[in-house]
Amino acid sequence: MAKRRKLYEGKAKVIFEGPEPGTVVQYFKDDATAFNNKKKGTITGKGVLNNRISEYLMLCLQDIGIPTHFVRRLNMREQLVREVEIIPVEVVIRNIVAGSLAKRFDMPEGTPLPRSIVEYYYKSDELDDPMISEEHITAFGWATPPELDEIMSMSLRINDYLSGLFLGIGIRLVDFKLEFGRLWDEDQMHIVLADEISPDNCRLWDVKTSEKMDKDRFRRDLGDVEEAYQEVARRLGILPESGPGDMPGPDTLQ
Ligand code: TMP
Ligand code: ASP
Repeated sequence: MAKRRKLYEGKAKVIFEGPEPGTVVQYFKDDATAFNNKKKGTITGKGVLNNRISEYLMLCLQDIGIPTHFVRRLNMREQLVREVEIIPVEVVIRNIVAGSLAKRFDMPEGTPLPRSIVEYYYKSDELDDPMISEEHITAFGWATPPELDEIMSMSLRINDYLSGLFLGIGIRLVDFKLEFGRLWDEDQMHIVLADEISPDNCRLWDVKTSEKMDKDRFRRDLGDVEEAYQEVARRLGILPESGPGDMPGPDTLQ
């Protein structure tokens, strides 16, 4: 079998050359890291679940008119996406105090925010993803002011939509991280949603019990990580009827 060219390997995904120009393949690994790689582990089946969950959410967002890099899921662990130039900014949207916000301001986790807060972090493992302002982004040329306006308005729309979608299945969208990329169509440049949306980069709490259903279970050694991801997929209606038993193990890379 022909071996595909690996373009990039991240902490949770590998990017391979795509079957046609302008596309790449995202391969979802079971590897989990936290605190910028200081904590490492494996969550069995995570890649399969995140591939499915992210496919589902990206398609929902496309339906409401959010442009995304997503083309189609190829198999259990891979999806075909448009090749984009990733903007090196992580956009975090928060609805409820948790994680680093709770720590920074010494506020109890679970405090509702009077309005959603958008934060930006510079994507750099070496620098530990430092928090940045719009001024840094435009001054250093990571994005132009109009691009940033578009990113901000798309992020807020995504937050509104996903908050409602998750609430409908008994889950509170506490906070989440998005990444965007530039896509060229002829001479026209568009900003599109890229990367993935999954329990790896969202905080998801059960409405009734406040139980965590996301990567915090791994970060904080709470156990039942895989089960939590499965439950998110089950509530979204995208787990095979008979449960995870239906999900074969990792697809072998061609
Ligand atoms: P934080 O509270 O640690 O700043 O995280 C905010 C949200 O962003 C949370 O849903 C997890 C997500 N996140 C990532 O996806 N990648 C990261 O590197 C970090 C730090 C957070
Ligand atoms: N994704 C980051 C890491 O791998 C941080 C996190 O999600 O907690 O270290």
